[in-house]
Amino acid sequence: MSKIHIEGLYKAYGNRKARITALENVNLSIEQNEFVTLVGPSGCGKSTLLKLIAALARPTRGKLLFDGAQLLRPTRDVGIVFQEPVLLQWRTVLDNVLLPTEILGLNKATSRARAMELINLVGLGGFEKRFPRELSGGMQQRVSLCRALIHNPSVLLMDEPFAALDAMTREELCFELMRIWSADKKTVIFVTHNIAEAILLADRVVAMTPRPGRIARIVEIDLARPRTIDMEFTQTFKAYSDQIRSVIYQSQGAARS
Ligand SMILES: Nc1ncnc2c1ncn2[C@@H]1O[C@H](COP(=O)(O)OP(=O)(O)OP(=O)(O)O)[C@@H](O)[C@H]1O
Ligand SMILES: [Mg+2]
Repeated sequence: MSKIHIEGLYKAYGNRKARITALENVNLSIEQNEFVTLVGPSGCGKSTLLKLIAALARPTRGKLLFDGAQLLRPTRDVGIVFQEPVLLQWRTVLDNVLLPTEILGLNKATSRARAMELINLVGLGGFEKRFPRELSGGMQQRVSLCRALIHNPSVLLMDEPFAALDAMTREELCFELMRIWSADKKTVIFVTHNIAEAILLADRVVAMTPRPGRIARIVEIDLARPRTIDMEFTQTFKAYSDQIRSVIYQSQGAARS
């Protein structure tokens, strides 16, 4: 059974007078522990697709199964990282990470130990008593990653989590994420505008068309793990990148004409 199974999925916003079709006939199955990236132009429905998977929004039509069943409300088995860290400014790093465990009423001592483990894992050991304003953008995004992982969900949804960061921090965080994922496998769905980032991270890249969002192509990335930065300079990597770029631009051309 697939972890997530999507079939004939449509999502429209608005009313009958002003209707926007955000997603049209999306079909996609994601296996447990798979790392999938979604790439496509702005407005093609990537965030919408994540929201539907997280059950933060309802599909207009079609099938969306999570562990074989339809989700009627958000599940604790999903962790989400957004583009902005959205941390509570009056809470320390540790207390921000612990927030979901308080909401879920999990054991305090166990949660605290796990929070410290995660904080160390992302290289923030020693900063647990600091406040968000004392951290750089990259450090804040590391905190939100810990917060998304604290209750040990099996699915991690990431919506352009590193988009606001500089190129070096972004690269560093990609490798950190892959290291965390390989040590503690999860199903990851990661949205990005960056084609190289999409390839570097993924088992499969899902390339989407402009509005209404459809899947233009799913590209299996057959590169060894652990991935290394040198891979970006290989012919194979370039071929993936050319292929994905051409499907996205082709469909953009088609949408314009
Ligand atoms: N809550 C909403 N109400 C009305 N329209 C919406 C809503 N959310 C998204 N849309 C519309 O749906 C389409 C897809 O939006 P979405 O945010 O999913 O795109 P995206 O691919 O994530 O874009 P970006 O890369 O810019 O983040 C857009 O045309 C947007 O205007
Ligand atoms: Mg978006």
